[in-house]
Amino acid sequence: MTQPILQVRNLTTRFRTDRGVVTAVDRVSFDVAPGETLAIVGESGSGKSVTALSILGLIPRPAGSIDEGEILFDGKDLLKLDAPGMRAIRGNRIAMIFQEPMSSLNPALTIGKQIAEPIRLHRGLPWKTALGMATELLGQVQIPEPASRLGAYPHQFSGGMRQRAMIAMALACRPQLIIADEPTTALDVTVQAQILDLLQDLARRTGTALILITHDLGVVARYADRVAVMYGGRLVEMASAEALYRAPRHPYTRGLMACVPRLDGDTSQPLVPIEGQPPDLTALGPGCAFRPRCPLAQARCATVRPALQDAAGPKGDSRHLNACHLQEIA
Ligand SMILES: Nc1ncnc2c1ncn2[C@@H]1O[C@H](COP(=O)(O)OP(=O)(O)O)[C@@H](O)[C@H]1O
Ligand SMILES: [Mg+2]
Repeated sequence: MTQPILQVRNLTTRFRTDRGVVTAVDRVSFDVAPGETLAIVGESGSGKSVTALSILGLIPRPAGSIDEGEILFDGKDLLKLDAPGMRAIRGNRIAMIFQEPMSSLNPALTIGKQIAEPIRLHRGLPWKTALGMATELLGQVQIPEPASRLGAYPHQFSGGMRQRAMIAMALACRPQLIIADEPTTALDVTVQAQILDLLQDLARRTGTALILITHDLGVVARYADRVAVMYGGRLVEMASAEALYRAPRHPYTRGLMACVPRLDGDTSQPLVPIEGQPPDLTALGPGCAFRPRCPLAQARCATVRPALQDAAGPKGDSRHLNACHLQEIA
């Protein structure tokens, strides 16, 4: 197996709020290999974005802090870098694409300038070369007549075109990892599919690892190689997309699946929440976070946090991990 480009180990991120200390990410571990698409899926508030922001070094201080863990990127712990060290990696070797491109694009700068500037800065290339590469990138993300679009401002682009421009910006510095947090949620379904097809195609062709954060199981089925399911800030199941859909193990994942009428890549079905309330992240207690909503909960689920492990034994898929005490029957 190829060496993972990213290894997240025991990541724990908390926020101090008026309501108490929120443990938004709670001892989360996963790897991403070069060229692989890992989807992180879970209900709103399950800690997906905070996981992404932790990797990117963008947790707002002092309210937020990473209290535990390691984030090894290409073997080096990002948590040990100082601010300039992290800035050299973010937007360069690790790129990000967020839901609303308007908030990441500068409204006062032309699209061409915004794509060319990081190329010039991070790769030390002359301005003219950088502009030429920006044109090429706009072509790659299928923006028609790219050369004549360099001078356009973000507001002159449609939502879908802005997101394409964001992908061009993300690719500009040839990152080894792209983190896309609900990149198409604001777009209509047809445009969503075009953009995600494009993003994945470009990532695969360049061997770039992709973390695709979504609450949409249709997106997961269509794009993910592997899936990490989050609940209450914790990873509850992790497996190949194929294994997860064929035989989901965690009661939460099973609940999610039951809510989705079609698993054949149709992204038009919204995720219907499972009955009950999402957990209060200020007071999870010692047991399983899903216990209050779990149809199978037993006494020990209230007292002992289940470890994320493969309980299927040697015959099972050794990389199908599940955090449930009831592995055998679940
Ligand atoms: N800046 C912040 N201050 C306080 N709490 C936060 C902050 N950012 C996120 N949280 C909390 O962390 C939890 C996880 O949030 P998030 O990662 O954004 O969820 P999602 O899975 O929807 O992306 C939520 O309970 C959220 O309220
Ligand atoms: Mg989010």
